[in-house]
Amino acid sequence: MKIVIKDDFDQISKHAAELIASQVVLKPDSKLGFATGSTPELTYKYLIDIYRTGRISFKEVTSFNLDEYVGLGEDHKNSYAYYMKNHLFNHIDILDENINIPRGLSENLEGQCRSYEDKIDLVEGIDLQILGIGRNCHIGFNEPDVKFEATTHVVKLDEDTIKANSRFFTSLEEVPRYAISMGIKSIMKSKRIVLIACGKDKARAIKDMVEGKITPQNPASILQLHQNLTVLLDKEASSLLSSI
Ligand code: PGA
Repeated sequence: MKIVIKDDFDQISKHAAELIASQVVLKPDSKLGFATGSTPELTYKYLIDIYRTGRISFKEVTSFNLDEYVGLGEDHKNSYAYYMKNHLFNHIDILDENINIPRGLSENLEGQCRSYEDKIDLVEGIDLQILGIGRNCHIGFNEPDVKFEATTHVVKLDEDTIKANSRFFTSLEEVPRYAISMGIKSIMKSKRIVLIACGKDKARAIKDMVEGKITPQNPASILQLHQNLTVLLDKEASSLLSSI
């Protein structure tokens, strides 16, 4: 595990964008795994800036997103499909047919999970997966007590996650209770993982992930076993680590 600590959110976001850009330069047909939430927003902004200089193209890139709310379609402003269009895809030259996001309105959720996982297997795993982390140490929507061996599946969201994500909705009741998420096993198949965290409310989760016991109680702790993990932190998110 490589840990990079920068002064602030701006610097980690720039660094993350540069890592994604260099992946695309070195392998134009990269399979990129994207995350949503507040954390990667600025990374995507910097990635768009790099794209606009003409130095990179996403024409051959295939993307996979970590998760989607069950019950929200791509036109719903809180769906992750909408988020991705708004924050990244509408601003770069990625082809629509190369974008993969679980479909929250699918009538056959189990079948949808299986075909999503098959697609990941077909490309032999994602080349570079971007991750955020929840305050409860979740990655994707893999909540505490996760089954490490799970592939893409339907999850019931944790109360803590529902509360944390309610800031994007008009009320707590509006937050969907279920989501489709890549599983820990799907994430661990990625050839390289870059996890980004900032702010002091992520410090505990980062400590548990980096220095804690590997346990389903702290889903991100499994990443200690990944062979190519980079953790990008601001000072606050790194503040509880004793090993740095
Ligand atoms: P955040 O969410 O980036 O909005 O803090 C991260 C996560 O829950 O994985």
